Amino acid sequence: MAMLNRRIFGAFALIGAVILVLLAAFGWSAGWLGSRRISGGDVTAALEANGGGAKPGYRRAHAKGLCFTGEFVANGNGSALTTAGALRAVTIPVLGRFSMAGGNPLAGDGRVVFHSMALLLKTPDGQEWRMALDHTPIFPVADVASFVALQRATTPDPKTGKPDPVRMKPFLAAHPEVKAFQDYMAQAILPNSFANATYYSINAFRFTDAHGATRFVRWQFVPDAPLAGLDKQHLDQLPRDALFREMIARTAKGPSRWHLLLVAANPGDVTDKATVAWQGPHRTIDAGTLTIRAVQPEEVGGCRDLNFDPTILPAGIAVSDDPLLAARSKAYSSSFTRRAGEGPHPSAVGQDLAKDKLQ
Ligand code: HEM
Repeated sequence: MAMLNRRIFGAFALIGAVILVLLAAFGWSAGWLGSRRISGGDVTAALEANGGGAKPGYRRAHAKGLCFTGEFVANGNGSALTTAGALRAVTIPVLGRFSMAGGNPLAGDGRVVFHSMALLLKTPDGQEWRMALDHTPIFPVADVASFVALQRATTPDPKTGKPDPVRMKPFLAAHPEVKAFQDYMAQAILPNSFANATYYSINAFRFTDAHGATRFVRWQFVPDAPLAGLDKQHLDQLPRDALFREMIARTAKGPSRWHLLLVAANPGDVTDKATVAWQGPHRTIDAGTLTIRAVQPEEVGGCRDLNFDPTILPAGIAVSDDPLLAARSKAYSSSFTRRAGEGPHPSAVGQDLAKDKLQ
């Protein structure tokens, strides 16, 4: 009898141990144990709080946008670095979106960061290259925890409408890497048009050529239009939709063009930190010309219901070791799921234009 009891007890102990192990594994993967992993939902929640609450239907970042269409003419030179079909000598129709960073679609255009361009290049074989590019060569932070901390530190104080310096100070002390971005912004010209800004991939990506050789590459779209700057001292006086209106008016008169420059990393270049610029001369390939011929308000154009996830890449281009890329993919997906579930939104730019009947 004692033996039977011991066996029964042993069996229960084993089952209990298995259940404990399973619970621990589940708890860890759910982020209940150890240092909690940051989900895409955590990031969108921080973005929503920073933007003064969710704006139903709109992107949780870069909420204010304008769709565009045109074409990318690849000259074939990019094939030296990648087998991607979009960089063979081909012409591909493009769909894209200009945007201003921030979660408030009705915010004014007098913002320092970021003026942005998102692009979809789809080759006839169905492969897609999605990109979301900013007008700065580097990013303020290098990982998702720092990104969330940055959102929290810069959430406007309801009393002043501005970030609270008391919260910024410890953030900046804990994140010395932000200084490179601040220094860049302090001296950089702030483009006075979407058409004369350079747009950067910022993150590095891994390109594979026809021989199977791989290299890290960052890229940028450099405008034909000469750079001219906004008055950074008086950004608050800029009419609310000034940059979007300028682009609409400019495009009505003629197309805008950019050259796609592929910049291959030198040995020793940092490829996993978007906070670090690549200094000095680099092998740079002009891979072709992007021409934007038409712009459309978001409810009319095809860009509103797209997720410009920068990890959707054609064969021949892959993500690098930069952890921001996976974090971006999760955050864009979370933002997309929320806004898609909330239903379509009217264009913020279109609302203003319709109201004022200026265009
Ligand atoms: C951890 C870093 C980042 C996070 C968490 C983040 C988050 C987001 C989110 C949630 C969206 C809205 C996505 C949607 O609903 O479709 C967005 C859009 C965008 N992001 Fe980021 N972002 C990050 C870094 C960057 C970087 C480094 C760039 C530029 C190289 C960038 C450029 C853009 C652009 C251009 C858009 C607008 C895309 C569009 O027009 O649909 N982001 N970002």
